[in-house]
Amino acid sequence: MLSREEFIRISLEINLFFQRIMKEHLFFIETSLQPIEGANIDEARVLKESFEHLLAETVYYANGAISEDAIKANEFVTPYTLDAENISTQLTGASLDTMITKQELQLTSNPHFEFGERLERIVYDLNYRTLNMLEEVIAFKKKLIDLSLECKILIALYVELLEHITREAIYYGEVLRALQCKKLPDKTICDELNFWNNIMGEHAQFIDGLLDPSERQLKDTAAGFAQKFENLVKECVESAEKLVLERSKDATVGIRDYKKAATIGSLGCEIKSIFAPLLADHVLREANHYLRILNKLSS
Ligand SMILES: [Fe+2]
Ligand SMILES: [Fe+2]
Repeated sequence: MLSREEFIRISLEINLFFQRIMKEHLFFIETSLQPIEGANIDEARVLKESFEHLLAETVYYANGAISEDAIKANEFVTPYTLDAENISTQLTGASLDTMITKQELQLTSNPHFEFGERLERIVYDLNYRTLNMLEEVIAFKKKLIDLSLECKILIALYVELLEHITREAIYYGEVLRALQCKKLPDKTICDELNFWNNIMGEHAQFIDGLLDPSERQLKDTAAGFAQKFENLVKECVESAEKLVLERSKDATVGIRDYKKAATIGSLGCEIKSIFAPLLADHVLREANHYLRILNKLSS
């Protein structure tokens, strides 16, 4: 059973991370559909804006309540997020509310914060509304997967990437549902490691597939990471979980550094690719989030 303080703090932290992740998935969908798909583009935009409203609320209540560790992890925003948003909106014409990002860069942790009953009710309601919106997002992503598999839409996102972002939304929903019962999801260490190691390995595959074919070295490094994470998933059995945990940490630090370099390279137009700088920053934040989970699991 989580204490009131834990419920509030963990909820706000998970929402700060995942509400941004969700609105960016919708931005990627909005900007990857063809002009003929006006209705789906509109649906992506409306859902993106709904998540922006939820995120703006979370940022308001999170100030002071969240932990120093979470702020320092660079999983909510990185030093590159604002630039990545500005360039990605200029290049696509789709909107992103950068005021939220500016406010997030100012977030602080207050060791004397008052975790009152009123805030508990507000956070419960925020989680509830987020869960409802999440159901809509999951249904929308599944619809796009079906349309894509039936060759009824042309979308510049791999089906595997659509499935990947659907799994991230489902995972987020599981965390929120547990939190509403004042619990954390009931998962083994291997369940958690396998989820994120799969995610990290797929990021490597997506980056490999979205880099220009001439970027040989960067593509080889990405392929190496994909293989490494695939092996870690195969190796995770209960008796080896401590070992896999340590090796996952090494691999994630490695891919985090690679993604950071890719974000900087993408922002500086030093890499030939067909991904927006925001996608690089997005997967960088997911690695930062996973590293914080890994550090918690090993402490
Ligand atoms: Fe994502
Ligand atoms: Fe991801």
